[in-house]
Amino acid sequence: MKKIQGLAAVALATALLVGCTIQGGHETKVEALLARMTLAEKLGQLQQLVPSGGNITGPDGGVLDTEELIRAGLCGSILSEQDQEKLLHYQKIAVDSTRLGIPLIFGYDFIHGARTTFPENLALSCSWNPELVERTAAVAAQEAAAFGYHWTFSPMCDVAIDPRWGRVSEGSGEDPWLSGQLSAAMVRGYQGKDLSSPETILACVKHFAAYGAAEAGRDYNTVDMSELMFRDRHLPSYKAAIDAGALSVMSSFNDFMGVPASGNKWLLTDLLRDELGFNGFVVSDYNAVTEMCAHGVAADWKDAAGKALNAGLNMDMVDGAFVIHGEQLVKEGIVSEKTIDRLCREVLLVKQELGLFDDPFQYGSKDKWENDVYRPESIQTAREAARESMVLLKNEGVLPFKGTERIALIGPAGASKSYTTGAWSGMAEPEKAVSFLEGLQERFGSVRYEQGSSDFEAIEGGIQRAQKLARQSDVVLMALGLPSDYGGEAASLASIDIPEAQRELFDAVAATGKPIVLLLSTGRPMTIAEETERSAALLVTWHAGIQAGNALADILSGDFNPTGRLTITFPYSLGQVPIHYNHKVTGRPNPGPQATGRYFSRYMDVPNEPLFTFGEGLSYTTFAYSEIEIPEPEIRMGEDVKVRVKVTNTGSVAGTETVQLYLHDLVASTTRPVRELKGFERVTLSPGESRTVEFTITPELRSFCRADMSTGEEPGDFEVFAGHDSRAALSTRFTVR
Ligand code: GLC
Repeated sequence: MKKIQGLAAVALATALLVGCTIQGGHETKVEALLARMTLAEKLGQLQQLVPSGGNITGPDGGVLDTEELIRAGLCGSILSEQDQEKLLHYQKIAVDSTRLGIPLIFGYDFIHGARTTFPENLALSCSWNPELVERTAAVAAQEAAAFGYHWTFSPMCDVAIDPRWGRVSEGSGEDPWLSGQLSAAMVRGYQGKDLSSPETILACVKHFAAYGAAEAGRDYNTVDMSELMFRDRHLPSYKAAIDAGALSVMSSFNDFMGVPASGNKWLLTDLLRDELGFNGFVVSDYNAVTEMCAHGVAADWKDAAGKALNAGLNMDMVDGAFVIHGEQLVKEGIVSEKTIDRLCREVLLVKQELGLFDDPFQYGSKDKWENDVYRPESIQTAREAARESMVLLKNEGVLPFKGTERIALIGPAGASKSYTTGAWSGMAEPEKAVSFLEGLQERFGSVRYEQGSSDFEAIEGGIQRAQKLARQSDVVLMALGLPSDYGGEAASLASIDIPEAQRELFDAVAATGKPIVLLLSTGRPMTIAEETERSAALLVTWHAGIQAGNALADILSGDFNPTGRLTITFPYSLGQVPIHYNHKVTGRPNPGPQATGRYFSRYMDVPNEPLFTFGEGLSYTTFAYSEIEIPEPEIRMGEDVKVRVKVTNTGSVAGTETVQLYLHDLVASTTRPVRELKGFERVTLSPGESRTVEFTITPELRSFCRADMSTGEEPGDFEVFAGHDSRAALSTRFTVR
């Protein structure tokens, strides 16, 4: 701390010699400002701090004396402050009490809402509805700004295929292209058309890069993959969000090709800026700069700070390495002041885009935060989002309810409000959420409830009371799963079974012989083959947000016909993980469940197939596909190819189908996945109604990373599949000359 105080004094003394304020003429404020800044003040803009009492989202010990450093102009950003008055106080110090009055930028993890909580991002991605996803982000932005925040650390674009990793809940599933589509929608929602508006905030593409590929699904673990795999499976999602205009990126904790992301010049400069054209700024993840010491690539904090600055990292989150060592690094010629100028300029330009120089206090007020959140239209959006996120995966005729059934609700997630919020919901008010029990009682009247067990422990007499209630009922809703804090960061699990106490409760209720509707509240896929087999219906409800109970009632009553489709594979067995639909063919592909013989890619003890596949989800009606056709099945490189398919509602009620189009490049210069999602369209059809849906497969959609790391399309034969999910059987072919 002494070192910091010394620094602050030096910074203040130096600054007084230079003099003058930000109010300049009409020259570009940033250039004029930069010319007036001392090296210490420039480094201050590159330092983000978490105030003591803030919502600490990382290892303690990173907390510096925030107010003192702000006053000395040695802090450019604050994250995770939960007290609105403190936020305003910090801004007043920065604007009124520092030499140049440069406003702070405030950041927080509003990743699926602020006060109005939406389903977690993985759940939301199962809506396959970019317009809805964008709307949820716009609501989050409006409410975050009402508090006084300028910046959200979202969207998380990490493609993940390992449900042991708790952060799968924060992403948009396993498919690179769909994850990109939905992440781009979130960027549009957060940033809007005018980033300087007091109701839009800065988006942050995270965690750059490939954080979702942590070995063994263990958070913060090593990520090791080929550049080809990275460019094919992980980069597209970040790129789509950057192309959508995101002006900040967060570097990830993990090493990438042997170098931690926060000190990885190839990632942060060569790829991110030079190749992708990103023109915002990069913030590290929490303490990730100095964690390069633990990684063993930096000898000490100063070495880590030098590596990060030279790699192109603009802002150090929390540990203070930049303000502590920055001046010495420049003095020793390890980092040039030209580099500091560039990094500082990029931060100041984004602050200018946010309108912070025009009015540092336009965001947030006590009145806005108290009276302009939970807007009726926001609550309605939350109900829509919860409904469209839930995925019906089994239904043996028990749903929708007729309204005459005696309904029992059993399980720890049944009356819980904390199960609705999900991870990363620091500004939520769980008491404002509609629990499953509340929503069902509102809709059906006499729904009776027994908790039966706690999340992980038996309850004295709980099973007996649950069995008694089940025997007095016609149908039992079993609300089981994992609590909200068993998802998100630092929440890896070596077992993704339903917890044992809940399985015992399930077994006891199943023993009564009453039909069970399993409601799975979770932030990740779980291994539920046995419970699914013994249930009459399965609805994955996820952690569904503030309107969870009303959305559930809408679905169970049939008022809303479920439309959710999985964006992540549910394994049959954990031993299959990592398992995902877009796997490679291999040289000895498995011929399928009926195969005999030995020498092909398989397990001796379980099938290759998952329990539920990507794209899967049921409706209360049925859909049939026919007449797939390609009007011009021979095209040239650079041309589009059109694919048409007819979909018919063959059931008795109206429903919305997400028509999915998959591509298989049969022969290419590198091995290609058996299928890749290249298009989807949601169509709502009345009973008996048909619609022909047309997709366009562009050269860009046919492109992929080749062995020389170039991305492009190649001539050859392609097979396209159109249908209900990633197992779609209806197919045809086209050729690119
Ligand atoms: C955390 C998370 C990151 C989050 C940041 C700020 O460690 O990894 O996703 O945005 O810190 O809370």
